[in-house]
Amino acid sequence: MCGIVGYIGKRDSVPIVLDALARLEYRGYDSAGIAVIDAQGNLVGSKSEGRLGRLVERLRDGEPLAGSVGLGHTRWATHGKPSDANAHPLGDCSGRIAVVHNGIIENYATLRAHLLERGHVFTSETDTEVIAHLIESHYNGDLLAAVRATLRELRGAYALGVMSNYDPEHLIFARNGASPLVVGIGEGEMFVASDTPAILKYTKREIILQEGELVVVGRDGWKLSDYDGKELERDVVQIAWDMGAAEKGGFKHFMLKEIFEQPRVIKETLSGRIDDLNQVTLAAELGDVTPERLRAIGKIAITGCGTAYYAGMVGMYLLRSLVHLPVEMEVASEFRYGDPVVDGNALTIAMSQSGETADTIEAVRIAKGAHSTVLGICNALGSHLSRVADATLFTRGGPEIGVAATKTYVSQVTVMTLFALYLAALRQSTPVDRLRAIADGTKLLPAAIDLLLNASDDVRRVAKQIRKAQSVLFLGRYVNFPTALEGALKLKEIAYIHAEGYAAGEMKHGPIALLDPAVPVIGIVTDGRVREKMLSNLMESRAREAPVIIVANYGDEEAAQVADHVFWVPKVDELLSPVVNIIPLQLLAYHIADLEGKDVDQPRNLAKTVTVE
Ligand code: G6P
Repeated sequence: MCGIVGYIGKRDSVPIVLDALARLEYRGYDSAGIAVIDAQGNLVGSKSEGRLGRLVERLRDGEPLAGSVGLGHTRWATHGKPSDANAHPLGDCSGRIAVVHNGIIENYATLRAHLLERGHVFTSETDTEVIAHLIESHYNGDLLAAVRATLRELRGAYALGVMSNYDPEHLIFARNGASPLVVGIGEGEMFVASDTPAILKYTKREIILQEGELVVVGRDGWKLSDYDGKELERDVVQIAWDMGAAEKGGFKHFMLKEIFEQPRVIKETLSGRIDDLNQVTLAAELGDVTPERLRAIGKIAITGCGTAYYAGMVGMYLLRSLVHLPVEMEVASEFRYGDPVVDGNALTIAMSQSGETADTIEAVRIAKGAHSTVLGICNALGSHLSRVADATLFTRGGPEIGVAATKTYVSQVTVMTLFALYLAALRQSTPVDRLRAIADGTKLLPAAIDLLLNASDDVRRVAKQIRKAQSVLFLGRYVNFPTALEGALKLKEIAYIHAEGYAAGEMKHGPIALLDPAVPVIGIVTDGRVREKMLSNLMESRAREAPVIIVANYGDEEAAQVADHVFWVPKVDELLSPVVNIIPLQLLAYHIADLEGKDVDQPRNLAKTVTVE
């Protein structure tokens, strides 16, 4: 949610900052801006409402901007509508301080009122602008001291960057709460960004800022401290991702590329986690969450937001089926205010691709406060979640740039599957042979998905038929109820078509009233305990003349008879089927959005990482 980039070095910062911003646009894209310190030592900049492309055009058509120190921002509006004036960087009255910010300053209204009383003139409606004016009001010859004094007055979760020609040799950044910042270390140059892929092209060595930390970067290094000035050490992390991971690699969109990466991602996610006897080995990764602790738990609570929540929901069914423990699910924004009943006997599992989602982090804080053990399932190394959880299982999906999550969903479900198998073995809650058979079955998933990707054109043909639908109903049951929810979410997110995921048995309690020839019904009818029930529900849909599309196993002619179209999928164990069954639904959403000319990778109003409540 909002992207921040900083550069200080020997090159012109403008192309570098713009390039890095382009890779962060998934975080927000309603306006963008850049400021630099030019050769004369002046602080100059440009900003524009709209996509980053508008800013690039403005820079190309207007006054050229150049300077070896630069600060840029791409915005997802919270306070103040998207406009040139509200775009960051925002400045003070003197025009000598520029601030970019991600997050929310909760006490900005009070701060702004005080500043107005003292004669400060504001040019935007943002909470961010108070930061620049506060720094100005505290400045007394020492920029760093002024920033520190300012930070002490701010409440809220934020990442921010400060540039000023009072001190043209340094940039200052601070982080408080779930707003990530990484510092990339180059040769005589330094990069700062909200996320690693933005600067991967320039360096693979970075440090990750933690909560309550401030970093001053100069051409030759960085100095990390807390807000009070106590110096801190930090290990430099060597990033293993290659640059190609953050490029489209010949695909029209990142989302399509990421859908096609799924076989490889699953292999990566499984790698080294299943031994030759088909036993899942996670003890080393789980560290402090020891087998003894896991044997002692009496219940499990799962939380997360969006797609991560649905991946968690597949986990709920797997854990109930294999571990036979009570499992509760709640979206993190409800968990945090819903008096969750977790205690020292509970395991709370927090799902998050980014590991930075504000509601999820807060849910974890509440669970920890209640003495629950917390397991994070997360994609981003070094993320907030991975630091606050007692243990983290990483999903190894690599950078995901498309706002709509795809490869990270299947990798989250895969990790959940591994964890359920591991826990069931520890607690001896399911016969070992059954567990080994499922573990063995996971190895077939990459090939199964490969087959489905080859059928992408077939999905596009169906997409052409239903692309004008106003409303689509997705039906599933048991482990594939979350598949229906996730399929519907994908369609909403990128094609802007109203879609509902429903537990198929509930259809007759409401949604059936919506059905007519213009409302396609998409049902998941693969083999398993609910196949026949699903068929009946789809017959009911067909009887209301709704076009019926199904996901079914190759050769299931009986299922094919209830459908106008079948997305054929290979047969895998029912507990593994969510990983396979979601693929045609991802492709369907993608193709409809693409056919309709929608912005697939950056759908309107969304952001990839939501670091505000
Ligand atoms: C946003 C994204 C979704 C994502 C959700 C949770 O809404 O647009 O794609 O599923 O946040 O994000 P997380 O990083 O916690 O998985």
